[in-house]
Amino acid sequence: MPGIRLVKVTKRYGDVTAIRNLSLEIGDGEYVCVLGPTGSGKTTLLKLIAGIVKPDSGEIYIDGRLVNNVPPQERNVAYVPQYYALFPHISVIDNVAFGPLSRGVSREEAYKVSMQMLEMTRLAWRANSFPHELSGGMQQRLALARGLASGAKILLLDEPLGALDARLRVELRYKLREMAKENNLTTIHVTHDQEEAMIVADRIIVLRNGEIQQEGPPSQIYNEPKNIFVAHFVGGANFFEGFVAETDQNGSWIQLRNGFVLRINEVFGSVGERVVVMVREEKATIIRGAKKREGINLLPGTIEWVSFLGDFVSYSIILDNGDRVNSKMPTIIGVGRFRVGERVYVHLRPEDLRIYPYPPHGLYKELEVI
Ligand SMILES: Nc1ncnc2c1ncn2[C@@H]1O[C@H](COP(=O)(O)OP(=O)(O)O)[C@@H](O)[C@H]1O
Ligand SMILES: [Mg+2]
Repeated sequence: MPGIRLVKVTKRYGDVTAIRNLSLEIGDGEYVCVLGPTGSGKTTLLKLIAGIVKPDSGEIYIDGRLVNNVPPQERNVAYVPQYYALFPHISVIDNVAFGPLSRGVSREEAYKVSMQMLEMTRLAWRANSFPHELSGGMQQRLALARGLASGAKILLLDEPLGALDARLRVELRYKLREMAKENNLTTIHVTHDQEEAMIVADRIIVLRNGEIQQEGPPSQIYNEPKNIFVAHFVGGANFFEGFVAETDQNGSWIQLRNGFVLRINEVFGSVGERVVVMVREEKATIIRGAKKREGINLLPGTIEWVSFLGDFVSYSIILDNGDRVNSKMPTIIGVGRFRVGERVYVHLRPEDLRIYPYPPHGLYKELEVI
């Protein structure tokens, strides 16, 4: 039995449809990340499950029970809002213990659990402080500790690591998942950070305009994005505009601008159809050499720029047809390898290329949403 099930749920605020005819199932004990840009409906989705807002249509089930008319406190759900409200006049540990105590857990047990949660979120040393004495990041961790201590089996986290500094964010995301799994919690973790989602999630649900674009394990979302939006949102991607020039049994030839041609391993569309081809930045490899080369998907160009990203370097190449390509490689092999102005070839393996229909409102419109 799935932990959470939504069937054709729609939620409107006036003219805005925040969630549109959305169906999903989340298994017992699953750790799901909902990933999407601002305004895509992530918070509304959590509020619908928590019972803070009601759907205009559709059904919401928790543990098989229809909960459309069940109040939040009876849903066995811990909702940690993005903008949490702490109790200002009681100490940190009392804030955490409030949930278990109000559920009737013994004092001893409630404080023991609360202390564990404070240790996990690295706040044990501030147990006797008041919320206003904590930094923003600490307050967020306190909200998290409080949600965790509530004892609910379903955890709804709205951008739980958003206010933390980078180092702590990285450290805590592993802890979050570990803790959820240890306690067999069903977790929905909302984020707009694709890296965070890839690292913690069993499954990622990509949301846009209140609709699911794609759901699946992180590797699938990354390697086989179903559309341009997902490709762009979940990692570095290069896009080329073109037309289908020819198709055969094993794939297609795509005509790019100014006479460049790409081979892809997908039989796609009909000849003359306008398309977009995508390749991940780390799949675009650079081959040195000014002398003329012949071969499939070898595109001549010039190194335009190199960015140092710490563990990676990214080369920006302007192809001779005017298209631009970014090629990302580990610093250890890439640093200093090519110089700005150097003539090179970009090599794209047919199996690494994805193809999409040209978006109705244009490629740039499609990419600017984020
Ligand atoms: N209380 C509200 N009243 C009116 N519009 C709202 C309200 N809450 C959210 N919205 C709108 O609904 C859409 C989805 O919002 P939200 O669920 O907060 O998205 P996200 O969390 O992904 O940023 C947005 O267009 C937002 O402006
Ligand atoms: Mg939000």
